[in-house]
Amino acid sequence: MPPKRMINNDFTETLDTSDEWIYSHTGIRERRIADENLSTSDMAVKAIQQALEMSGYSSEEIDIIIVGTSTSDYRMPSTACVIQEKLNLPNAAAFDVVSACAGFLNGLIVAKSFIESGTYKNIIVVGSEKLSSVTNYDDRNTSVLFGDGAGAVIVTSDNNSRGVLSSFIKSDGTKRKLLWIPVGGVENPYMPDFQFDGSDKLQMNGPELYRLAVREMYNASVKVIEDAGASIEDISLIVPHQANIRIIEGLAKRLKVNMDKVVVNIEKYGNTSSASIPLALDKANRAGRIKAGDLVLTVAFGGGLIWASALIKW
Ligand code: ACO
Repeated sequence: MPPKRMINNDFTETLDTSDEWIYSHTGIRERRIADENLSTSDMAVKAIQQALEMSGYSSEEIDIIIVGTSTSDYRMPSTACVIQEKLNLPNAAAFDVVSACAGFLNGLIVAKSFIESGTYKNIIVVGSEKLSSVTNYDDRNTSVLFGDGAGAVIVTSDNNSRGVLSSFIKSDGTKRKLLWIPVGGVENPYMPDFQFDGSDKLQMNGPELYRLAVREMYNASVKVIEDAGASIEDISLIVPHQANIRIIEGLAKRLKVNMDKVVVNIEKYGNTSSASIPLALDKANRAGRIKAGDLVLTVAFGGGLIWASALIKW
């Protein structure tokens, strides 16, 4: 996480909002903001270095690096290739997965497929986002929600029964304008006379996303639990995408699980998009909340629209 904290009261000088509104509607108290010298790849590199250290793998052993991000350092090349150079991963392939808040899970599901097919053995999956670079700080509807950060895992093939037991990805492109950045791509490029009006930053229909997020995160959760031949009672821990505490509580209620089985870190970090699940997973792991053999349900929903889930045997 970048060191700089932005608390809710930091918004009240420029926006008609309050700590009370933000916390009661989102569960967020603060978020981290990367300064201008800290890029998406820099945050990813730090997360990966910690993951490598924890796993005991060396960078030479890595076959491929998959990066979930929607805030790439450049429009080209991929952030994954920038990371490959910064980390000196000579033997690796590298590419990005652009799937908004589902970027990390989609990367994990691609990694699972590579391992099952025998294509690659040791894989880094990292979610990294500098959402502050695409946030309109004049818009109270969106600016209070997002933060920066990165989280990484090492996925490897070791012929035991652990790993991703079942996975699911679904999308609905007809709803792509519920969360998007209209200007800056090929369809609506920046013009020389561009006047800032927020159209090159995140635009969002919050209430509609909220409703769809609860419904589809629930459906995606049930799907992977059923596909693995498990039941909700078998799940030790749920690690959901951290968009809004009320979405997370709505999901827990529909799944009929107590919130003490759900990992939440939104209070400190806000919505970090594709970084949110690996960050929450790391928090739970370091706190000793996950034991070998536990079933961990991960589920995400984001711009695209796209949603994904994976049931992991730890
Ligand atoms: N401070 C004060 N008032 C605010 C703020 C704010 N920061 N933001 C919005 N409001 C106002 C609105 O302007 C509106 O005022 P109005 O009635 O005068 O027009 C009022 O609060 C209610 O607005 P709603 O949008 O109905 O508020 P809601 O309770 O739905 O909460 C929120 C808004 C937090 C955005 C919620 O809809 C949400 O979390 N949606 C999910 C969005 C999301 O997380 N998107 C990220 C990507 S998708 C994903 O990750 C799941």
